[in-house]
Amino acid sequence: MSDSAKIQLNKFELDSRIITGSENEKGFDITKLRPTTGHITLDPGYGNTGACMSDITFIDGEKGILRYRGYPIEQLAEKCKFTEICYLLLYGELPNSNQQELFSQKIKKEQNIHEDMKRFFDGFPITAHPMAILSAMVTSLSAYHSDTDITNPDKIDNDIIRLLGKVKSFAAFSYRKSHGLPFIYPQPELNYVENFLHMMFSDAQENYETDPILAEALNLLLILHADHEQNCSTSTVRMVGSSQANLHATISAGISALWGPLHGGANQRVIEMLEQIRDDGGDYKKYVNMAKDKNSDYKLFGFGHRVYKNYDPRAKVISQAAERVLKALNVDDPLMDIAKNLEHIALNDNYFVQRKLYPNVDFYSGIIYKAMGIPTNMFTVMFALGRLPGWLSHWREMITDPKSKINRPRQIYTGPILRNVKPVGDR
Ligand code: ACO
Repeated sequence: MSDSAKIQLNKFELDSRIITGSENEKGFDITKLRPTTGHITLDPGYGNTGACMSDITFIDGEKGILRYRGYPIEQLAEKCKFTEICYLLLYGELPNSNQQELFSQKIKKEQNIHEDMKRFFDGFPITAHPMAILSAMVTSLSAYHSDTDITNPDKIDNDIIRLLGKVKSFAAFSYRKSHGLPFIYPQPELNYVENFLHMMFSDAQENYETDPILAEALNLLLILHADHEQNCSTSTVRMVGSSQANLHATISAGISALWGPLHGGANQRVIEMLEQIRDDGGDYKKYVNMAKDKNSDYKLFGFGHRVYKNYDPRAKVISQAAERVLKALNVDDPLMDIAKNLEHIALNDNYFVQRKLYPNVDFYSGIIYKAMGIPTNMFTVMFALGRLPGWLSHWREMITDPKSKINRPRQIYTGPILRNVKPVGDR
């Protein structure tokens, strides 16, 4: 929907349209700005810039609302399996049981990785970060599947399903390799989450007995991470994909963007921070003061968000799940107490209240992963596993949109003005 508008910018008047989204979000269409005025906009960090229109996910950061395809995240988290969410994000509707069965079978068929690719793992040092391995393995898939065609819906679908099947095997294999353990192959009778736990924790003598509490918690975490509209890694996927780079290379770029500690890498940093506080005698107030100190670069990882200026709805669900999992497993994790104390102090401290800094999705997730036996350096891989259907859905939405263009921002140049080159001896 659009209304016309006139924007007065200094001496310029721009005929614009006001674009209104289905939840009444509004934006100025400035596509005619440069041709009309010779000026561009400058918005470092893109806090005011909409780069696309999308049907997939709605966030109201002020109210703390997150919905996938219109469904509240809380309902999806309570009622669905992760593969149903993959289907919802990709195809726009929740699957019926036949569609769900067919979709799960297709993913299962793609779980195994090419035997040659198993040897790739031998090339990495044992200390390699699993995110380095994951991004390399995903882009390496382009070497095995080069017949991509973004004009062919069946081939697009095959590429998507292949990644949904194989990324979790790469993730589990990177863990096995870094622990000197043999690879465990997926089993056809297990579902997505059970298979991942099996590939991580079974051994040659004994199959891992899926603990329903852990399987349920992992399913929940994957759902809560599945999409978050135009975040840094999804925007990266759209940026790289806009050049029509192949899907494997494109998703690998998203994985790299996710790795940063200001984005998905924060979940690893949170647990490292909580452990540091624990080892420092539990004095969490000292760390809160460090985070408030303008002369220090210290941050409380797991706090703050570009979009949420209210409690992150995902953090709310995850903190309750963390309590449930620890109770059910009878685990008394001192990190949970430190986390709750940090949250309490931050929610009542002027510094955090004024800046609207609340716990984000990464604050409590590591406590659950840790209870599952997943090592800290795998946490961001777990995030990638969850975010994969979101990246794939945004990629497909973009490449199937006939109006889609290569993404190419502009800049305001601030370097030297024209000067002449002197021969090397005269410089
Ligand atoms: N601890 C202490 N102070 C903080 C924190 C924090 N975690 N986050 C923001 N602030 C302060 C900033 O110093 C700034 O203060 P100022 O106004 O006095 O200068 C103010 O709050 C606004 O912060 P910005 O950095 O401008 O906020 P921005 O939207 O650019 O950044 C971000 C958001 C990157 C998430 C930031 O809050 C942060 O670094 N948090 C910690 C890392 C983290 O948890 N990242 C995961 C985010 S969720 C996700 O990506 C999956």
